[in-house]
Amino acid sequence: MARESTSVVVVGAGPAGLTVGNLLRRCGISCVVLERQPPARVMGRQRAGVVEYRAVRMFEEWGLADRLIGDAPSDEILEIRVDGNSRLLGQDEGNASRRMILCPQQVFVRRSIEVFLAEGGDLRFEVADVALDGLDTGRPAVTYRDGAGVRHEIDCEFIAGCDGDHGISRASVPAGVLSVYAYDHGIAWLSVLADAPPPQHPLLAVSPYGFAGHFARGPQTSRFYLQCGLTDQVPDWPDERVWQQVRARLGAADLPTGPITDREVFRLRSVVYDPMAYGRLLLLGDAAHIIAPLGGKGMNLALHDAEVFVRAIRGVVRDGDHTALQSYSRDCLRRVWNYQEFSRWLTETLHDAGDDSQVGPFRRQLARARLDRLSNSPSAAQAFADLLAGLA
Ligand code: APR
Repeated sequence: MARESTSVVVVGAGPAGLTVGNLLRRCGISCVVLERQPPARVMGRQRAGVVEYRAVRMFEEWGLADRLIGDAPSDEILEIRVDGNSRLLGQDEGNASRRMILCPQQVFVRRSIEVFLAEGGDLRFEVADVALDGLDTGRPAVTYRDGAGVRHEIDCEFIAGCDGDHGISRASVPAGVLSVYAYDHGIAWLSVLADAPPPQHPLLAVSPYGFAGHFARGPQTSRFYLQCGLTDQVPDWPDERVWQQVRARLGAADLPTGPITDREVFRLRSVVYDPMAYGRLLLLGDAAHIIAPLGGKGMNLALHDAEVFVRAIRGVVRDGDHTALQSYSRDCLRRVWNYQEFSRWLTETLHDAGDDSQVGPFRRQLARARLDRLSNSPSAAQAFADLLAGLA
């Protein structure tokens, strides 16, 4: 058994864990990041695609923005298309500087790894049998087995549980400690990645055929989301049906298509675990909460958790001040619930407004009134823009 010691062990090298690593290094706090997968798997995972304005500002403050997201395209406008008619949100002057960065997750992750390693960060891939011990003591430890089969034990002051929804961190908290708030939205989506030109602006579309979304994932790559039946499977959606539905729902009969490179069906769900901490283990990102995709907050909540975590650890390690650590869970959860509400509101509105076969004509009219309010009321539009930017 190889034994060593550091200030923070970070479990998981997704957006949350890598951001923790990069910010800790900027504070001069030692850490080791442990990742179960090989680099190619971590850098190839295609998921989120938008870095909200709040997170852009955060990376600027930490001197990381240029290297992580500097040359990625940006946009301040969101298009909502209702029955083929376009409505552009975020055009007014006040929002012009609040650009969201359109940066595919795999690009963000690859650059985060490059920055971390270039600055001498300790990132270990392909670790197996990770286990957390002594969480309720002052000196916890993480054990794992490396690729050569050698067992390691790292003792530390804190553990950052950044290993996603199926990781070992949350599973290491004794039963009964965490309250679970889980919600199934009763909606399924087909997600399609295609070598097809991206939209002019991030696009959400409402139509009687159901919801559709169209987002950039690169200069010639698009992610499409199509509301589908709850029992649908991937084989129910051959190319021809995908493109016919994309065109009908976006109201764009001549939309260019392209080869489909990935296709999956999933149910929209949300979960929050409370508190986001147990003893010396703090949970971040997907390990602590899952949010439905509309609103683009999954990765952004993880980035927020990372900064709150690092400020809290810095308080303890550098200044002996435990105040921020004690309020870590409360501070993160306040934001998590605010954006769960935003995401649920947007999900309900965009799905109810289209196909009334599930919810009935009354709720369809209510949802359309909500969408009209975003176009007709400057204060409603501003509140929406604040939430989109992550500033509410
Ligand atoms: N040991 C080490 N690493 C692990 C373990 C383990 N036992 N279990 C999981 N991991 C790794 C995964 O391989 C993955 O690289 O933890 C990482 C978790 O990354 P994500 O699932 O991306 O979670 P997070 O960093 O919280 O992501 C935040 O970004 O795109 C969004 O949908 C994503 O909402 C999520 C957000």
